[in-house]
Amino acid sequence: MGNIIRMRFLKSQFRNKFIFWLLGWKHEQDKALTSLHSFTRSVIREKKMLLKKGKSSMFSETPSKKRLAFLDLLLSSAKDGTVLTDEEIREEVDTFMFAGHDTTSSGITWALFNIGRMPEVQRKIHDELDEVMAGRDTPPTRDDLAQMKYLEWTIKESMRVCPPVASYSRTLSEAAQILGYEVPAGTNVLFFPHMIHRDPRHWPDPDRFEPDRFQPERSAGRHPYSYLPFSAGPRNCIGQRFALMEEKAVISAVLREFRIESRRQYDESMMNVCLTLQSNGPVEIRFVPRDRE
Ligand code: HEM
Repeated sequence: MGNIIRMRFLKSQFRNKFIFWLLGWKHEQDKALTSLHSFTRSVIREKKMLLKKGKSSMFSETPSKKRLAFLDLLLSSAKDGTVLTDEEIREEVDTFMFAGHDTTSSGITWALFNIGRMPEVQRKIHDELDEVMAGRDTPPTRDDLAQMKYLEWTIKESMRVCPPVASYSRTLSEAAQILGYEVPAGTNVLFFPHMIHRDPRHWPDPDRFEPDRFQPERSAGRHPYSYLPFSAGPRNCIGQRFALMEEKAVISAVLREFRIESRRQYDESMMNVCLTLQSNGPVEIRFVPRDRE
């Protein structure tokens, strides 16, 4: 589905419905959509069954504050279709499936790739993990994850160099002057965080991979729109804190066990802007068990 959207975005001839159908892409799209929607519907069906049995995913943020998990909340607000229909719920769940999955997997892949090509950065992450986890072999707690500061800066630096969402857009509600151009109201303006993140006015030596840029002292005073992996403003990413925590949990689990080596050198041409940032060709990484070293 991502490839189809990308192709229609880049090549205007495929936006013509007849050509799209004639070349068989419509058929491909229908197949992809059936597969995506049936996955989401099955998740909703299972959740409804659990709710019927009285099992909701209630979780506590603090002992006094209980919250419903996202899908439970949607289902309980639906009031048997009078407030939200099944299809409307499915659309919301689709958004979360895509926005929450492909983005984080792209972020994790690029972070592992960048860590694997920077032995000094990796050594510091290993030192930090050894210190925070202090020989325990249990999964990290929320507090442990919060202490993994250098890992967090590395993930942020990786999203600066390789932003998982490579582009997004806004429609101008009023005319604007952009770099000397008069841009009329109603224009759709695309943002490319990849380029914003390489602006030397905000990021000296922008091609250097340097997690320490995100130390609080060095981040203070930086322009608020110079770093936009999660967009900005009222429609920015609703899952950004969760995404960071998820990336930390996955990457720390890998690096507690392994030292990794990227088999490819970084170069711009390996980036493939699909809906999320993908790589041209595989991101090859060698995993060396740490206990054998
Ligand atoms: C590294 C991971 C992620 C990145 C880079 C990312 C990036 C983004 C960006 C750039 C947008 C804004 C798009 C725009 O302005 O038009 C966005 C929106 C959104 N994201 Fe994320 N995201 C990530 C993870 C997640 C996760 C884990 C969830 C959910 C669990 C999530 C849910 C959403 C939703 C629902 C929106 C739409 C918000 C709205 O329109 O009000 N994202 N994300």
